[in-house]
Amino acid sequence: MKSKALVVGGAGYIGSHVAKQLETAGHETTVFDDFSTGFRQLTRSLPVIEGDICDLQSIDAALAEVRPDVVFLFAGLISVGESMQKPDIYYQNNVTGILNTLQAIMKNAPKARVVFSSTAAVYGVPAGELNEEHPTRPINPYGRTKLIIEDALRDYAHAFGLKYSCIRYFNAAGSEPDLELGELHEPETHLIPRILLHAIKKDAYPVKIFGDDYETPDGTCIRDYVHVSDLARIHLLAMDYLNDRGNSLVVNAGSGNGYSVAEVVAMAEAVIGRKLDVPVGVRREGDPARLIANSDKAKKLLGWQPEFDLRDMVTTSWQFIQKKRSS
Ligand code: UFG
Repeated sequence: MKSKALVVGGAGYIGSHVAKQLETAGHETTVFDDFSTGFRQLTRSLPVIEGDICDLQSIDAALAEVRPDVVFLFAGLISVGESMQKPDIYYQNNVTGILNTLQAIMKNAPKARVVFSSTAAVYGVPAGELNEEHPTRPINPYGRTKLIIEDALRDYAHAFGLKYSCIRYFNAAGSEPDLELGELHEPETHLIPRILLHAIKKDAYPVKIFGDDYETPDGTCIRDYVHVSDLARIHLLAMDYLNDRGNSLVVNAGSGNGYSVAEVVAMAEAVIGRKLDVPVGVRREGDPARLIANSDKAKKLLGWQPEFDLRDMVTTSWQFIQKKRSS
């Protein structure tokens, strides 16, 4: 079934990859973005409505114009560290903005399915296996804002019959292999691009390992990195699942493999082919020691499994940065 999709936040890193996969699969795809953190070049030639989810009128007008049958909710702020310093803007964008969007959906496209970008940060400090039944006790405002929307979606589903999927991302990384899209953030806070930019211009992009005194084998934090193309694919599978069966669902999206920060630095050194000077600094507030997904549910219900590994993520990220520098 071909859908009419509105990708809210489609000029961002993950949203742009999803928008491209939707377009390639033949779905009618429109991007909505305020370009505060997104990039026009990542929307390529897709139709774009410029607007701000924090302005109810603006998102309402977009929903009235497109009347989509599926809405992807990417718009929002995404940095754990920043959310500790500026919780107000996280609640404003990630809660008020998304609630505005839900209001506009209920008014203009009440039958639309919703696919929401959630996060592993909803779990907080894991105790045992991280499947979707694990208690949700976020330890930073970023995770809390995402959990509030998960709860709102459940309540809307109960009261209004909304069908939705929450995808709890682990650490997105890499670029699609044809390198038209890739990771662009300003400023860049994520580990892999930070290390790679540092490799190019050490002084302009200083990078440190945030703490080596965690209870992990090498003392540095362990994360589950998942390639952005794999992550994009799970959104389309979730959309198909909602169309076919109609049951709302919450799924983890991770590879099931954990890598420490020191191991990621070593992988970057292997891909680039030289040693990098990455010193150890202090811990960053709000970081749990270890986050590794159990993604069995996504595999069972959606048939999803990551195809790319950490080397692919670092390699495509490196190739995208090189391509950008030469253009
Ligand atoms: N790190 C460093 N130095 C840096 C940047 C990061 O040591 O310069 C470390 C962090 O402390 C963390 C790891 O590298 O241990 C990954 O950090 P990122 O900032 O790349 O990513 P986060 O784990 O903080 O967050 C990401 C997404 C969130 C998502 C989370 C889920 O940004 O949206 O993964 O695991 F919720």
